[in-house]
Amino acid sequence: MKNKGLFITFEGIDGCGKTTQMNLLADYLKAKGQDVLITREPGAIGLGEKIREILLNYNGEVSSNCEAFLFLADRAQHIDIIVKPAIKAGKIVLCDRHTDSTVAYQGWGRDVDLEQIKMLNSLATSGLKPDLTFVFDIDVETALSRVGKTKDRMESAGPGFFEKTSQGYLEIAKQEPHRVKVINSNDSIENIFEQVKEYIEI
Ligand code: TYD
Repeated sequence: MKNKGLFITFEGIDGCGKTTQMNLLADYLKAKGQDVLITREPGAIGLGEKIREILLNYNGEVSSNCEAFLFLADRAQHIDIIVKPAIKAGKIVLCDRHTDSTVAYQGWGRDVDLEQIKMLNSLATSGLKPDLTFVFDIDVETALSRVGKTKDRMESAGPGFFEKTSQGYLEIAKQEPHRVKVINSNDSIENIFEQVKEYIEI
């Protein structure tokens, strides 16, 4: 497996525990001698950090299409400048959120047209797809109870929004079962990681 780049993405609603699992997987892979890069969307790098700041903290009205385009703009920059070169260099790239977040949040959550989002995702990534995606599926109530009191703009969207987003993720998994693996995340960190490891053949 060494020197063969891989792209693995971590998805789920806010508070689902995906970042913890991504870090555990990074340690696990590094212990096996793999070259791992951890990254995230939105806001992995300079320009992306500025876009992230707008997306999460802007106080005024933001149209759903504008929101979608900002996430997509961040993605285009991230994929070209960080992800593709790392995969080419043989790294295992672990990414906290990617294309499925836009389908679930802007498509399912905000009702932006799903087919158009898919097309724009494909433009933003030049067609690059993750080799493997984990969706951390969890009760909305449990997930939101983990989000702190000071919520960012996205986290303030409310339970109804996250129910739709959550449903969107499960639908993505149904449509692409080969790539997208649903992890039952109503469990302990250790047990969740056991499920993750089942899909890692390294
Ligand atoms: P972040 O603090 O990174 O949340 P988390 O730790 O849960 O990943 O904030 C990212 C927020 O942006 C999160 O609420 C999900 C949302 N988001 C979208 O709505 N669409 C997208 O395409 C992406 C990448 C993120």
